[in-house]
Amino acid sequence: MTKSIDDIEQLLSRMGLDEKIGQLNLVNPGGQVLTGAVASVDVDRKIREGRVGMMFGTASLDQRRDIQSICLSQTRLGIPMLFASDVIHGYRTALPLPIALACSWDPDLVRRAAHLSATEARADGIDLTFAPMVDVTRDPRWGRVAEGFGESSKLASVMSAAMVEGFQGDQGKNGTLLDVDRMAACVKHFAGYGAADGGREYASVNLGPIELHETHLPPFKSAIEAGVKALMPGFHALDRIPVTAHPELLVEVLREAWRFDGLIISDYTAIAELIAHGLGDASDVAAAAMKATVDIDMVGETYEQQLSQLVRDKRVSSESIDMACRRVLTLKYELGLFEDPMRYLDQQRAKETIGGSTILREAREMVSRCCVLLKNEQNILPLSIEKMSAQSTAPSIAFIGPLADDRSNLPGTWSVSADVDGCVSLHDGVREWVGDDVRIETARGCNLTDSQQLAERLNVFGETVTIDERSIDVMVDEAVQVARSCDVVLLAIGEAKEHAGECSSRTELSLSQSTQTLARRLREAGRPIVWVVFSGRPLVLTECIDQADAVLYVWYGGSLSGPGIADVLFGKTNPSGRLCMSLPRSVGQIPVHHDALPTGRPLPKDFVFEKFKSCYLDESNDPLFPFGYGLTYSNVAYDRPSVTTSVADEDVTVFAELVVTNTGERSCEEVVQCYLHGPAGPVSRPVWKLHDFRRVTLRPGESKMVRFQVDPEAWNFFAGRRIGEMRWERCHGEARIGIGPNAAELVSTNVAV
Ligand code: NOJ
Repeated sequence: MTKSIDDIEQLLSRMGLDEKIGQLNLVNPGGQVLTGAVASVDVDRKIREGRVGMMFGTASLDQRRDIQSICLSQTRLGIPMLFASDVIHGYRTALPLPIALACSWDPDLVRRAAHLSATEARADGIDLTFAPMVDVTRDPRWGRVAEGFGESSKLASVMSAAMVEGFQGDQGKNGTLLDVDRMAACVKHFAGYGAADGGREYASVNLGPIELHETHLPPFKSAIEAGVKALMPGFHALDRIPVTAHPELLVEVLREAWRFDGLIISDYTAIAELIAHGLGDASDVAAAAMKATVDIDMVGETYEQQLSQLVRDKRVSSESIDMACRRVLTLKYELGLFEDPMRYLDQQRAKETIGGSTILREAREMVSRCCVLLKNEQNILPLSIEKMSAQSTAPSIAFIGPLADDRSNLPGTWSVSADVDGCVSLHDGVREWVGDDVRIETARGCNLTDSQQLAERLNVFGETVTIDERSIDVMVDEAVQVARSCDVVLLAIGEAKEHAGECSSRTELSLSQSTQTLARRLREAGRPIVWVVFSGRPLVLTECIDQADAVLYVWYGGSLSGPGIADVLFGKTNPSGRLCMSLPRSVGQIPVHHDALPTGRPLPKDFVFEKFKSCYLDESNDPLFPFGYGLTYSNVAYDRPSVTTSVADEDVTVFAELVVTNTGERSCEEVVQCYLHGPAGPVSRPVWKLHDFRRVTLRPGESKMVRFQVDPEAWNFFAGRRIGEMRWERCHGEARIGIGPNAAELVSTNVAV
């Protein structure tokens, strides 16, 4: 029995080559949760023969119990199975999408979200999640922006660590993961996957070493420093080399420089896909992935089929197989699977834990803290029943739009285990708020998409999009009439849940034609209009945002979306979400993000166009809403920051402080943001790059001092000539520090560093 970590060596010595290779085989039996094009075959037999080490896509706790019993009693060595799943944002209780969680700018909230996810998932017998996804994302055409933390390397790094800590808990860092409410995390998709050419899923990535190191690698390093147990390379080729077979990235950077000794788990059939990438036949690609120290083969079974012959041919060493197998067994040991394999497969605990009241309460709060208020003319929000009653004898709300009373989309993409029936719609959330005193009228008004073909593609995981066959005019006429008969209009629009996610890249990011027509014509009703925008990505709202009095960007918030959004609409929660990705004015501007490099011909401030400057003929350079942007129901005044320095040897530490004051009438939370621009040197630096941020709670009239520290390393730049040459340098000179409520409203000070 493997009772201590030392026993793993003994177990290893008793294993045959095929049994060791079996531990490297991660299968999905299909039938239930299939997240790729193919399922594994003959799974039962392979389990009994000890040729499966890990599984995902299993159907139920009962099935997992049965499989575990077979592993323990019917395989030669009784090695327990490890069960994985994509627990991306909640489990049975869906929580806000990661892009939404990042908009909270609150690592504690993200830590709690991951902990809640782990609590439910582990109670259902899941030991490892393929999360967090920490790819830095600057291209909203890419559907997977929904799964990440947005455009800033710094924000993604903070959230990356928080999520790993939430999934794994404190003890994860030190080895074991025995708590029943924690699970192993697998950070993904190493590295640069978010920079896919044209935002097209699985497309190649072309990044130089500086951009890779300064922008895309830090969130992975942050996860590793937080003790993440596993890592997944992406499907893509990075500067022509597919990362699943990229020794420079996986061995030199990850294993050697960063000392990562956890599991490397291939993405879904990614080893077999190296053949299509052009790296050779099945034996070549299995050898190449082993050389890159990829331990686990997900679904493809190329390792299963090739490794023993490769060992016999001496193209792969038996030591490297031992090493990979040891990593799997070590993780199983750390997860407590050897000690008590049935401990995590307890029906009673599942019943008591999943969907528990604490989880639901927290889920609701999370929704409200991730919403971003983009517009609020004449302080139309928060809505007040008292105010409405004072103005009207029978207060009423018009609920318009295809998402007003929808539940099926609410879990958002990548919610493979979510309980859709348990989701509460916006309509029901508001109804709970207003009770029966307020009349609610509804009209569909428009379609999420007007294309039948697109609707079919969006419904691949079940129907969440239906197209109302009535003409746009008929639908809109009805909606205008309903709007006229009410005091205020809530317009719930956006995109469907599967508009975002894996293989959901888009070339158009505007609202559907029928939505735009509706948005314009609703004005005819002469009522205040509040948009509630559901989405998994930044959309282009330019065409008709003028038609809204208020806009609340709610992303996809999961099971408790309705009540959480209602809490914001009616002012129980003062919105404090801030955009973690800029909202573009048009698709043609993409990528548009806060930390773009300067050019040799910068456009002068406040100019939209000047000949021979870097700009567009037909569009401004600025996004519609900048990174970091978000309103509250209060106002916060920023004093000018004061900056001091302390010098030790040649190293300068900068201290910046300023006072912020709540000049509004409600308590609020402000996200004070600090950006840097580095001193002159041999490499070009972003005009501004997020360095740090603070959340401060302010009562009405209250002032608080906010402090930032900029350590000397903050000015470092990557000076290696290739990815694996880990060399950083620093220059001295005049730098800039900017502080403000978002990337476009900074008060800047020069400082010598
Ligand atoms: C493919 C995705 O790229 C990855 O993120 C996911 O974890 C696996 N499929 C498993 O579902």
